[in-house]
Amino acid sequence: MTSDAAAKVIADFRAFSATTRRRAPLYSSISSRIADAPLLLNLMLSAPERARVPVNLFAAVHDLLLADRSDRLARYYPNLTRNPDGGDPMPEFLAFCSARKPQLEASLATRFPQTNEIGRSALFLVGFDQLERGPKAHLDLGASAGLNLMVDRLAYRDVDGGQLGESDVVLECSVRGEPHQLARSLPGIDGRLGLDVAPVDPADAAGLRWLKACVWPDQADRFRRLEAAIELMGRHPVELWQGDIVDDLARALDHLAGRGHPVVTTSWVLCYLTPDRQRAFVAELERLGEGRDLSWVWAESPPLVGVLPVAPALAGIDGTVLGVTTWRGGVRTDTSLARCHEHGYWLHRL
Ligand SMILES: C[S@@+](CC[C@H](N)C(=O)[O-])C[C@H]1O[C@@H](n2cnc3c(N)ncnc32)[C@H](O)[C@@H]1O
Repeated sequence: MTSDAAAKVIADFRAFSATTRRRAPLYSSISSRIADAPLLLNLMLSAPERARVPVNLFAAVHDLLLADRSDRLARYYPNLTRNPDGGDPMPEFLAFCSARKPQLEASLATRFPQTNEIGRSALFLVGFDQLERGPKAHLDLGASAGLNLMVDRLAYRDVDGGQLGESDVVLECSVRGEPHQLARSLPGIDGRLGLDVAPVDPADAAGLRWLKACVWPDQADRFRRLEAAIELMGRHPVELWQGDIVDDLARALDHLAGRGHPVVTTSWVLCYLTPDRQRAFVAELERLGEGRDLSWVWAESPPLVGVLPVAPALAGIDGTVLGVTTWRGGVRTDTSLARCHEHGYWLHRL
């Protein structure tokens, strides 16, 4: 292992520490001291190069801690304890890693962070609300574990305390601009399907725990609502297919035929495609939209997705933009709806 590799790991952790100081102080504090922690450095260097990202180490530790929440390290994790210890977490973190070195090495060698952000259902809800009333067939592309296929099974609360729906999963989303409510009503969804190149099997407890492990412990609310959403999905399983967003789109839509107006959703997926594949995706939607009425609700980042049909003023915006593209009688209409928090905590209507 070259010292260049070690220097890169140290630089990456220091950069991570700086960017997470406010939002994830626990990880920030540990990251800032990586250079003085040969155990952590060697763990990182044991991983394949592409897996040597700070969040991967933290997720691997968090995953083991979720499997055994009684470990002393848990008292520093705001998502795992009511009154987190505000002292220095480093000695317990190092002790934990030392005791579980082989498991951590195995995790770092084989896994990579994965997300399924339930808060994005609030954004999809706003998109659904733009469409004509009537039953919908929801196809979520890049669905991960399929959690965002439960838009109609969640409840949504705005800053004024108004709530739409009744559910064990309540998403809070503050809206700036009019209308102040997220939506007039919950959509009626008669068919639902998720498609992902690497879906998280909802029956695989370890896969679902990994999703939780990838959430930062300081984001306790985000963690709790993910746990609640996973439980809810356990009671209402959704269908998930392994497949590609371009190659399998037509097949997936055909599968939902007769179950309502087809609504395709994408959230933080298109940035994983090359520019060519992004263009191929939109071309495939175009082709399908010529032959049938179709809607596409998107919550994506414009600088990372050149093909996104955002209003020109938003093209360079560094964040998430929500929009809806419809095909009616073969005519395409693009509408940018809002600038949003990437996890759906707020949206500013345009
Ligand atoms: C950042 S996650 C977002 C997951 C989910 N849409 C959400 O908002 O919570 C991106 C997802 O896109 C999937 N993905 C990446 N490339 C894909 C492709 N070519 N076809 C289908 N899914 C893809 C990944 O496997 C991953 O589950």
